[in-house]
Order: sequence, then structure tokens, then C-alpha cells
Amino acid sequence: MSIIVRRVLNTLFPRRAGAVLLSMISTTQTKWPSNDMKEWSTPIGEYRRPKDTDLRSPCPALNTLANHGHLPRDGRNVSAWDITYHVNAVYGLSIPLAALIAYGTVFLLKKPLFSKINLQDIATNPGVEHCASLAHTNTPKKAEFGATSVCPHLSKKLLGEAKDGGYTAHDFARIRVEREREPGMNLQGWRGEIARGECSLTLNVFAGDDGKVSKEVIDRWWINEQLPEGFKPARKTTLWRAAKVGTDIRNTMKKLEKTE
Ligand code: HEM
Repeated sequence: MSIIVRRVLNTLFPRRAGAVLLSMISTTQTKWPSNDMKEWSTPIGEYRRPKDTDLRSPCPALNTLANHGHLPRDGRNVSAWDITYHVNAVYGLSIPLAALIAYGTVFLLKKPLFSKINLQDIATNPGVEHCASLAHTNTPKKAEFGATSVCPHLSKKLLGEAKDGGYTAHDFARIRVEREREPGMNLQGWRGEIARGECSLTLNVFAGDDGKVSKEVIDRWWINEQLPEGFKPARKTTLWRAAKVGTDIRNTMKKLEKTE
């Protein structure tokens, strides 16, 4: 996520001023405000397990939206606006952030911005999907699509990595470093930013005031693609907050790579 911010800043403020601004983001302490969602009341649709013929993406957030009927349950004919609207309504991402990810994805898939896609298109290889996912296997080189369902082995490993009942930004950094060290991983450039962005969004949407997301939530939502009972987002996630937590994760990963 933060690479997009950096590119925009570097365009607006040439000569590394963008980099200076970004370093300011990373030096302010991360806060976990949770009092901005008191009025939030999006009714959550009924969960139904997907049928064999339904299409899904590699993203737990989008698959969960389809499993609860916010996106079409069959995973077909979805526009970037549908994704933007429901990611905002259910997960509390700001409209600019949700639109940036949704339209950015359609753009990177080289589809017309206002076209309808299937959720499986999001797994197109090569595309936005990347290697070293925490619960999905890597995509074989010549495969048309990456995995759209979780790998039981990786899921068990991810759940086993919880510390004191959950995951902080530091835990996700540690887990990502370990995963990216495995043989055959090559997560460079903007794909690395996307991978950290996924953990940042997860923390922003689900973590409590202590900055920790519980293992139960990760099991139910990331692995089983179902919203927690009585779910409402922990806070409003803006582009700034997503970039901030993503930058924290990147900085921690750099430190862990040097020390371990
Ligand atoms: C706005 C629309 C969104 C789009 C288009 C999108 C797209 C994607 C894509 C393409 C992947 C696959 C990356 C891979 O190859 O592993 C992914 C994974 C992921 N996404 Fe999303 N995403 C969106 C919103 C969200 C939100 C709101 C969250 C968190 C609340 C989220 C959390 C995740 C996580 C945790 C993964 C990692 C799955 C894994 O490593 O097993 N995404 N997303």
C-alpha cells in the first residue's frame, strides 16, 4: 500500500520529499482508535457455504463478502464499484481506500475499469496475486489462476503462530519474514507492499485497542471465510492508517531480517 502513497508523493513533491513524508508516517506512534464506529450498523447477510460451482478469489475479505451475500454468492459479474461499496459498508475502509484497491486491482488485471469480473479473475496468474501468501499455496508458473481456497497445512501453520491468543503487527512481520525465507519465494517490489498491506488491513479492521487480532477471528474469517458473530469493524480504515500500519510491518520485517 505504502508504495502507492510513495509514488503519489514523489510525483507531487519531487526530489525525495515523498520519501521524507513517508518516513514521518513511520515515526509517529501507531494508535488503535476504536471509538469512531459507534454509529456503524451495516446489517450482515446470512452465511452460506459456497457451492462447488461458485467462483472465489484468493482474498478472504472478498470471499467472505460473497459467502454472506454482500457480493454475488456465485462470485460472478462483480464490478470494482460493487467491491468498493461493500468493502466500505462491511469492513469500514474509507471509500477512497476501497476504490484504490478495487479499481487498482481491475487495472492491474488489464481489464476495462468499468467491466464486470468474476472473483476468480482476481487470482489471474500473473496479476495481482503473489507468492508467499500466508494461507494459500504458490501458483505453479504456467497455471492460469492461483489458489482460491486455503491450504490446510499453511492454515494450521498460521494459526499455530498466534502469540498470547492473537497477532500484532509485530507477529505478522515475523510470520511474513519466515514465509518469505522459504525456498522458491521471490516477493519483490509492489507485490511485497500488497502482501504487507493485506496484514495491515486485517489489523485495522479487526484488532482491538491493544493492536491485536484474536486467533479465533483469524480462524473464522481468514481460514473459514465467515464473519465473526455480531461483527462490526473495529475502526474506520483510511489510506493513511493502512499505509502507517503497512510501513510499521515493513520496518519490523527489515529489523527481523537483520537480526535473526
Ligand atoms: C478492496 C478490495 C480488495 C481486493 C481487490 C483484494 C485483493 C486481494 C488479492 C488479489 C489477494 C491475493 C494475494 C495472494 O496472492 O495471496 C488478497 C489477499 C488477502 N487479502 Fe484482500 N483484497 C481486498 C480487500 C481486503 C480487505 C478489506 C482485507 C482485510 C480486511 C483483505 C485481506 C486480505 C488478506 C489477509 C489476504 C492474504 C491471504 C493469504 O495470504 O492467504 N483484503 N486480497
